[in-house]
Amino acid sequence: MTTTLNVNGQDHTVDAPPDMPLLWVLRDLVGLTGTKFGCGIAQCGACTVHLDGEAVRSCVLPVAAVQSRKVTTIEAVGSTPAGKKIQDAWKALDVVQCGYCQSGQVMSAASLIAANPNPSDADIDAAMDGNICRCGTYNRIRAAIKHAAKGA
Ligand code: FES
Ligand code: FES
Repeated sequence: MTTTLNVNGQDHTVDAPPDMPLLWVLRDLVGLTGTKFGCGIAQCGACTVHLDGEAVRSCVLPVAAVQSRKVTTIEAVGSTPAGKKIQDAWKALDVVQCGYCQSGQVMSAASLIAANPNPSDADIDAAMDGNICRCGTYNRIRAAIKHAAKGA
C-alpha cells in the first residue's frame, strides 16, 4: 500500500503494509535511523517520536494511523524551540552515556517542555515514565530538563 507521510516537514511516499510500525517505516523506508529500536512493545521509549508534537512510541504505531499527521524525529527536533532548548541543556550537562536511549529521552523531554515550560518533579516523572536508560542517566536527564526550563 502506498502512503504519504509528512516527516520533519517533508512528504515521503512509501510502499508499506498498513500495519507496519512507524518505526520500521522511518528507519527502513525513509532512511532516518536516529530513532532506535529497543523492545518493540512500548516498554522502553527508545523509539519515541512526535506526532503533531505529542510523544508517541513508534514501534507500536501502525503507519496507517499516522495519515496526515505531522511526524517529527530526533533528526529535526532541534529546529523546534523546545527541542533546541532540550538539546542545548543535554550538551551543557553532558547527559549522554552510551547514547542508545537518548533520542527517545530527548523526544519525550522536548514534548514535555513544549507543553509545560516549567515542569515540576511530578510532571517530569509523568512525562519521562517509560523512557528506560540502562546507563542510569536519570539524574542528569532531570537536571537537564530543569536547566532547559530555566532558559525557557
Ligand atoms: S522500541 Fe518502542 S518502546 Fe521500546
Ligand atoms: S545512555 Fe545508555 S541506555 Fe541511556
